[in-house]
This record gives sequence, structure tokens and C-alpha cells, in this order.
Amino acid sequence: MENLQTIREQALAALNAVQDEAALEQWKVAQLGRNAALTQAMKNLGQLSAEERPLAGKQANEVKLALEAAFDEKRSALEGARLRESLSSEKLDVTLPGHSIALGRLHPITQTLRRVNAIFAQMGFQVYRSRDVETDEYNFLLLNFPPNHPAREMQDSFYVEGGAPDNPTLLRTHTSAGQIHAMREYAAKDPGNPPPIRIVLPGMCYRFEQVSSRSEVQFTQVEGLAVGENITFGDLKGTLTDFAQRFFNANVRTRFRASHFPFTEPSAEMDVECFVCGGSGCSVCKHSGWLEILGSGMVHPNVLRNGGYDPEKYSGFAFGMGPERLTMLRYRIEDIRYFWRNDMRFLEQF
Ligand code: DAH
Repeated sequence: MENLQTIREQALAALNAVQDEAALEQWKVAQLGRNAALTQAMKNLGQLSAEERPLAGKQANEVKLALEAAFDEKRSALEGARLRESLSSEKLDVTLPGHSIALGRLHPITQTLRRVNAIFAQMGFQVYRSRDVETDEYNFLLLNFPPNHPAREMQDSFYVEGGAPDNPTLLRTHTSAGQIHAMREYAAKDPGNPPPIRIVLPGMCYRFEQVSSRSEVQFTQVEGLAVGENITFGDLKGTLTDFAQRFFNANVRTRFRASHFPFTEPSAEMDVECFVCGGSGCSVCKHSGWLEILGSGMVHPNVLRNGGYDPEKYSGFAFGMGPERLTMLRYRIEDIRYFWRNDMRFLEQF
């Protein structure tokens, strides 16, 4: 009994000295484990006489329960201390400013496309979406490019597998291909009396070209098409001059130069007065005072016919422009390759 009392006192004294959880674990093994003095004493109970045994057994149990209770108490005290310690050392300052999230933005070409579409929307043009993957027929033949027309040479194409030998599949080289789809779709609404058309056709185009600061293998275009009765070249000039004034500035001067496209007759390119030098000549306009911004013309009778519009009754004008070029002029960007390289240092400026 005295022995048990000593065991208890020594164990509790040792527990008092314990400072951390590792030491506590060691204490448990030493005081309550298989080789602990208390465990030995309990094993030896069997050697006592029948009168002594119950009393000693009871006491040994009490010592064991006391040590276990002291162990539990010490453990929660150590845990509490550890928690308080980490709460005070790892203070979280919720008033600190957070990490700012980078905001996305519209690609500069998307911005230009939307501006162009909006200006034509004000003039009553609707957006018509046409496919990127085309047939030779729609991209060339129905636009009045005969099979060996030299203009096909200028627009070296990306051909895609599939299609017929005499009508291969390709990525459209210009948005003009959509003109035929649109005219046929409109004409089908009322074949005897096809409705007037006023649309813009924005989209990506593809050409198998040497990449340089001035040309890329993929680029966007906005096509325009107006078809109806009594549409004249005056309508073409008025509409496109109005567009240039809305897109660049209200006082910009424009000029039309005779040109050639297979799908228009007559054809013209439109220039705007160089807004960098005001027309006096600079490196941007190559000292001409003018900047070319689009191709246009009166829709060729063959093209109208291919679209389901009788050229005896209907006429129309069409135009095509390059948003990359418009954007380069507007922001004086020197190299077209910046647009599709996904370089955030460039894109973030818009
Ligand atoms: N498709 C021509 C090109 O890619 C641009 C063009 C010129 C479109 C005259 C037209 C047009 O609709 O009338 O260079």
C-alpha cells in the first residue's frame, strides 16, 4: 500500500514536469505502460493473502484511475496552450486588401468588329453569320471567278479534306462567300419576288500566305451587301463615306479609286484622308496622304443571278474591309502579327 502511494506521488510529480505533448507520451508509457511500476504492482497482487488482496486491489485501481485522469487533464491543458499560442502568433488581419483579380477584356479586333457592326446597324444593316469552311463553288465560282481566273492565284487557299475533285472544300479566303449563301436564303423566302437585303457579314478568313508584318494566315473581314430595286453607285458612295466619318471622324475626307474584283462591276477602292498627317504625307500613308480601307463595287449581274436575284430587276452594292487594318490605322499598330499571338502585354493595352 505504501508502495502504491509512492508510485502515485512520483508519477504525479513527473507529470508536473511535463512541458509538451511528446514528453506527455513518454510519461504515459513510463507510468501506465506494460513495464510501469504500477502495472508490475498490479501483477503482484496475486501474491498477497486473501485478506490483503481486495484492499490493495482497490487502492491500485484508484491510483490507476487517478493517473489516467491526471493524464487527460494534462493533455487538454497542453492542447489548449498550443491553440492559444497559434492563435496569438498567426493573427489573421481581415482588414488587409485582398488580391485583385485580373479582369478580362474584349480583344481589340472584337472591339472593332462590334463598332463596325454597330455603325452599320444604325443604317439598317443586319449581321449575317456565314460559315468558315466553304466550297470552291461558294468561295470562287459563284462569285464569278472562273476556274482559271488569276484572282484565285492571289488567294492561295487552305484546302480541307473532303469535297468533290471539281469542288474542293477550303477555309474561306474572304467573307464574300457569304454573299451567295445570304442571297439564296433571302431569295428562297419568296422566289418570285425576293426581298431586299441589307447585311454585314463579319468573320475570320484564311489565306495560305507568307506571314509578315502586313499579312497573317488568318484575319477577319467585314463584308457588306445591299440588294434591292434601284440601288445605285451613289448609294454605295454615300453609305461608305458615312461609315468612314462615323468610324474615324466626322470631317474625314474619302475618295474612290477605280479597281477590279470579279464579283463587282464597276469596282472601287475607298481611301480615307490620312488622319496621322492630315493629308500632307507621312510614313503611315507612305507619303500619299491617303489610306486605303476597303474594296467595293456594284454586285456583278452574274453574282446576282447566282444568288437568285434577276439582274434586270435588282441591283446592289457590296464591300469588304479588314478590321485588323482598321485597328492598326486607328491605334498606329505597326505589325499585324500582334493580334493573334495572345501576348497579354499587347492585348492589355486595349
Ligand atoms: N473579297 C475582297 C477581298 O478579300 C474584298 C471585297 C472587295 C469585297 C470588293 C467586296 C467587294 O464585297 O465588293 O479582298
